[in-house]
This record gives sequence, structure tokens and C-alpha cells, in this order.
Amino acid sequence: MLDEWSSNILQHDPMRMYRAKRDSTRRTVSSKYHILGFISSGTYGRVYKAQSNDDDGKIHAIKKFKPDKEGDVITYTGISQSAIREIALNREIEHENVVALKEVILEDKAIYMVFDYAEHDFLQVIHHHSQTIRTQIHVAMLKSLTYQLLNGLVYLHSCHILHRDLKPANILITSSGVVKIGDLGLARLIYQPLQPLFAGDKVVVTIWYRAPELLMGAKHYNKAIDCWAVGCVMAELAQCRPIFKGEEAKLDSKKNVPFQRDQLLKILDILGTPKESDWPGIVDMPEYQNVKRLDLFSGQLTQWCRVRLPGQQLGYDLLNKLFQYDPDKRLTARAALNHPWFEEDPKPTWNAFQSIPAHQIPPPRRITQDDAPSMVPMASQQPHQGHAQVSAFQSQSKPGSSASFASLSGGGGPYGGQGGNGNGAGRKKARMG
Ligand SMILES: Nc1ncnc2c1ncn2[C@@H]1O[C@H](COP(=O)(O)OP(=O)(O)O)[C@@H](O)[C@H]1O
Ligand SMILES: [Mg+2]
Repeated sequence: MLDEWSSNILQHDPMRMYRAKRDSTRRTVSSKYHILGFISSGTYGRVYKAQSNDDDGKIHAIKKFKPDKEGDVITYTGISQSAIREIALNREIEHENVVALKEVILEDKAIYMVFDYAEHDFLQVIHHHSQTIRTQIHVAMLKSLTYQLLNGLVYLHSCHILHRDLKPANILITSSGVVKIGDLGLARLIYQPLQPLFAGDKVVVTIWYRAPELLMGAKHYNKAIDCWAVGCVMAELAQCRPIFKGEEAKLDSKKNVPFQRDQLLKILDILGTPKESDWPGIVDMPEYQNVKRLDLFSGQLTQWCRVRLPGQQLGYDLLNKLFQYDPDKRLTARAALNHPWFEEDPKPTWNAFQSIPAHQIPPPRRITQDDAPSMVPMASQQPHQGHAQVSAFQSQSKPGSSASFASLSGGGGPYGGQGGNGNGAGRKKARMG
């Protein structure tokens, strides 16, 4: 019990008064947004679809970062590095082709990031074409998606931001066909770094999209790793499955990064074994001796493109230049954006769905009522109410409870598996540190 003197002091404690005032005016997530359902569960939390309770009634995606949990007790051990990065970078940037962060709310030791909603993503498009309509993505759409992706990347790179996790599940598309680069959870600023980038995160980029210099153990890397990933994404759009679908070798018990033999073999098979004259720096790479022991490959990108990009000689040229082994020779995002393929008909459009028949547009993002249906009001049945919504956030994530497009596909095709967004074994996010 506090004596009268102490309680008097506390009442007049400016910090305490400030907090009381702040808390009385602070609006909770549930008072601002109506949760429509659950979208996906990822490494760091869960993503929900929500509608603003404001008059505009805008739709958003709310990413909730999990607080740390020990048993049933929520402990507060600070904010995850992923959340800090994503918030810090996202707040500073604004571009048509990068997903917009509307606000950040702190509540009950959890962080909520509120983004503009995007109805589709590249993975959905690929999946729709490979599993449902079973046709190639139309070249006009492929070109528009690639162009807008590059346009967003030029912007990030001009802000000295490396994305470091470009892959189909992280590249969103609005219902009006506008590409939005998302998931800056692994992104970082590279302007005059004090340490080699390797010192911070030992493994970056999901394995199928990881550039050869990273697979070769480079301690220093640069924007060129994102451009490699764009090449992988473009190729994946063209063939509706990943171009370099290697098996990831796992970190050992001491967290040493292993040699990614299988992934490199997948690359060599299509691009051929690099000559030292093509990539002089290769001889200094930590994994050089391991690579020398691999079989020699002559490469087959020309044939690959003949089938997957028929008649698109310039498309082949762009892909080939994004797949240069030497990061210094690889096309920059800006040079790629200026590539003549984008000047040739069909020209890219700001609505990637503009010229394609309606059935080729993927269906809307699937949402579910979480793993506890009674906790979330059904979107169609429930009127716009504020109070019943927070329960969706309070329920804890369960592995495999994801309801995303990919996981609902039954795990059969190339995108099956665990994870909320097609992050099967190969796609698993490689976050450390
Ligand atoms: N703004 C958004 N609109 C609609 N869906 C989104 C949005 N942001 C993310 N998602 C969905 O949630 C998934 C996970 O979000 P992401 O930001 O990639 O987090 P994680 O770190 O879990 O991968 C995405 O792959 C996408 O399916
Ligand atoms: Mg992601």
C-alpha cells in the first residue's frame, strides 16, 4: 500500500500523467479496424485482412508481429530485428510500386503494421496459370509485371535499400494490376556500411532466388543480388515454376553456412559453368574450390528461352543479362528497366491485367476465419462493429494454420508445403542474426 505522500507524488509524476493521458487517447487496433479474416502466417507473425472503421472503409492488410511467448506467458523481450527494419525502412519510403505502410500500432506487447491491401501476388498468378488454367502467362502481363517490379526496385536501390528477399510471395499486385514490392523484413540500408553485410545476416535470400556470389560465400555483396532474384522471378513467371529449384543444405549445429551444392548445380545446368574470364572474382570466393570439383556444364539458356519465351529474343537478352555470374557485369535495375524488350510490342502497362482475358486474372486472395472460427466475426454476416474483433489477433498462431493460396493447393505442385505463402522447404526464409 502506498502512503498518502507517495501516492501524492505519483499523481503528480509527469511521466505517469503523460502515460495516463496518452493511454486515454490511444485508439486500439480493434477500434480502428474490423478484421475480415486471416490471410497468412509467416516467420514473424500473422497477416490479416481488415477494413478501416473510418468513413472511407478502406481495406488493409495488418501484419501482427508475435510477442515472445514462454508457455502461456507473454514476455516482452524487445522488438524483433525484422520488425524494426521493416518499420524503419517502410516509414521513410513512398513509391507506386512499393507497398505503402499506413501506420504502426503498439498494443499488448505486439506490433501491428497496417498496409494498403493488395488483392494478388506473383505466386498467386503463377499458381493460377500452372494449376487452374494451365496456360503460360501472356507475354503482355509477364512484361508489365517484370517492368513494374524493376521500377519499384530502381526506387529501393536509389534509396540505398537492398530488399534481399525478392520472390513471388513477396511481390504483391493490386486488383487494378499495379505491382507492389512487399515484405521489407530482410531489407537493409547499404549506404556506407560499417561492417561487411555478411557480418549481420549470415544467410540472405530464399535459396531458389539466391545469387551465385552468395552461394559462393561472398562476404560483401551489393544490389546485384536483387537483380539476380528479379531474373529468377521473371523466369518463373515465364515457365510457371522456379527456374533454379535446388535443395537447401541446412546450417550445421554451429550455425556454419554449408556449401549449397545442389542449388549451384541447378544454376550451372542452365547457365553453364562460369569461365574465370567471365567472372574474374570467382577465384577469390570462399567456395571456389568446391565449385571446381563440380561437373562441367555447357548451359542451355537459349533453348530454355526458346520454349518458355517463344519469339521473345529481347526477353531472352534481358534474362541473360540479369543472369550474369559476375555481379559487376549483371544488369542494374535501372539498366534492366531501360532494356529494349520493354520498348517492343506488347509494351508494358501500369495495369498488368489490362489486355488479358478476365479468366486469366487470379481469383481474389483467400481469407479464412482463422483456426478458431467463433473468434472472428464472419465478414458476410457481421455488420461493421468494433468490439468483437480483437480476438482474431489474440489467438495464437499454429503451424500449418495458414490459409494462403499456396497452402490450400494441397501441397502437390511446386508450391505446396508448409508455411503461409508457399514457403515450402526451398522457400523458407533464411533469416538469422
Ligand atoms: N499488403 C498486403 N495485402 C495483401 N496481402 C498481403 C499484404 N502483405 C502481405 N500479404 C500476404 O501475407 C503474406 C506474408 O506477408 P509478408 O509481408 O511477406 O510477411 P512474412 O515475413 O511472413 O513473409 C504475403 O506473402 C502475402 O500473401
Ligand atoms: Mg514474405
